[in-house]
Amino acid sequence: MIGGSKILIIDDNQEVVDVLADFLSLNDCDVYQASMGYDGLDILNKKDIDIVLLDVRLPDINGISLLDAIKESKPSVAVIMITGYYDPSFVIDAMKKGASDFLLKPFELDKLMLVMMRVVRERRLLIEKENILHNLEDKKKIEVLNRELQKKIKELTMMYHISNKFNTINIYDDIYEKMVHIVGEIMDVKSCGYYVTDNDNKELILYTGYAKDNNVIPENGHKISIAGDSFGEARMAGRHVLQDNRLYLPLIIKGECIGFIMAETMANRNGNKRSLDGDIFFLKLIADKASTQIENRMLYESLFENILHTLKSLIIAINKRDFYTEGHCKRVTEMSLILGERMGINEYERDAIKVVGPVHDLGKIGIPDAILLKPQGLTDAEYAIMKGHSIYGEEIMSRFEILSREAKIIRHHHEKYDGSGYPDALSGEEIPLCSRIIAVCDTYDAMGTERPYKKAASRAEIAVEITRCKGSQFDPSIAESFVDLIRDGYNAGR
Ligand SMILES: [Fe+2]
Repeated sequence: MIGGSKILIIDDNQEVVDVLADFLSLNDCDVYQASMGYDGLDILNKKDIDIVLLDVRLPDINGISLLDAIKESKPSVAVIMITGYYDPSFVIDAMKKGASDFLLKPFELDKLMLVMMRVVRERRLLIEKENILHNLEDKKKIEVLNRELQKKIKELTMMYHISNKFNTINIYDDIYEKMVHIVGEIMDVKSCGYYVTDNDNKELILYTGYAKDNNVIPENGHKISIAGDSFGEARMAGRHVLQDNRLYLPLIIKGECIGFIMAETMANRNGNKRSLDGDIFFLKLIADKASTQIENRMLYESLFENILHTLKSLIIAINKRDFYTEGHCKRVTEMSLILGERMGINEYERDAIKVVGPVHDLGKIGIPDAILLKPQGLTDAEYAIMKGHSIYGEEIMSRFEILSREAKIIRHHHEKYDGSGYPDALSGEEIPLCSRIIAVCDTYDAMGTERPYKKAASRAEIAVEITRCKGSQFDPSIAESFVDLIRDGYNAGR
């Protein structure tokens, strides 16, 4: 029962120590001895002692002080006090300080055994209890950490979704509408919107809104009066404003507030004040992402404008040499846009035609005057040189990396639907859609324009020719749409 226990006997009476040591060793205990109190403390600190048998009178320190020292350094060690006389107040004092029991000298070994057994059992229970408490504390700590971890995972997941949604916005989307939808889809809100301020900063005007479930958001253009200067301060400091369960956060572009994102938070179910830290954090994240996208668009548009300006100066150079090209390019652009509109092309294709149309014959800058301005028809050799203009055009355009797709449209504007065109003999839908549209309008305008070497064809004659060539030279559906357009009375810019 007590076998295996490590017992330290601290007593200056060697006879007592010998008796106890023999008895305990016989019961399979590991026994350590000290005749002085401080020597006993040394052993206690070096060995993993379970029970101390402590004489209350020692030469260097009294038993109660030593009991204090033992309990302070090793609270789980059981201490049995040994005394030669019984003093109730002393016993009470020692018990209060954590002594497990008292043995009166001379003591009977049977009684010692009983006390030892009880103390060993109590100590085991104490250690077990401490382990359980320790485990409980660990469990509580783990639960707290788990909750924090779950919160972080939720935050990271939301941040990932926000980034992902912004990444799918393309250049033609309404960024403010998309931003408001992201707020509504990601955050726990009743409704949200984007507001701009009027010139006097006295009203917020709803640009676009989004409502969840059965909640409602007013029509775009709805106005809210601004009370006081809270929005002015928020605008200056980039801070949020909370008003009627609605969070308003300024949207800042290049240091200037251009409007406010609004998120109407859910009412608290328990009636307790709800922390808005999470809502503010995510709203700020969304505002930052939107600001970055808006700034990038501004940069892109200014770059685009510069490039178009450069291209236009090249066109002016061609027009000075060949007046026909200027009017031709303008008409082809106008026709292509109207035809594209009728066919339901998307915004990118519409913009591509706006860019490419006026410069689709840009490559003619590389064609010698003797060929470009020749009043008669071209010989085969001259025509072969003339055909090079689509490649020259692509080469010039592809110097601008952001116009790489537009450069391909120029390269292929003389391809034919059946693969007999140039420069790459592409066929069908291998040819970019905008090139196929421009090809029809290009032919229409060339046929309808009088040149020194030929008369202008009538609209009816051209319609017949385009119909005849559908499926061979032209995309059949584009050719049909164009002929319909002509029959509906479109006069192709003339
Ligand atoms: Fe051309």
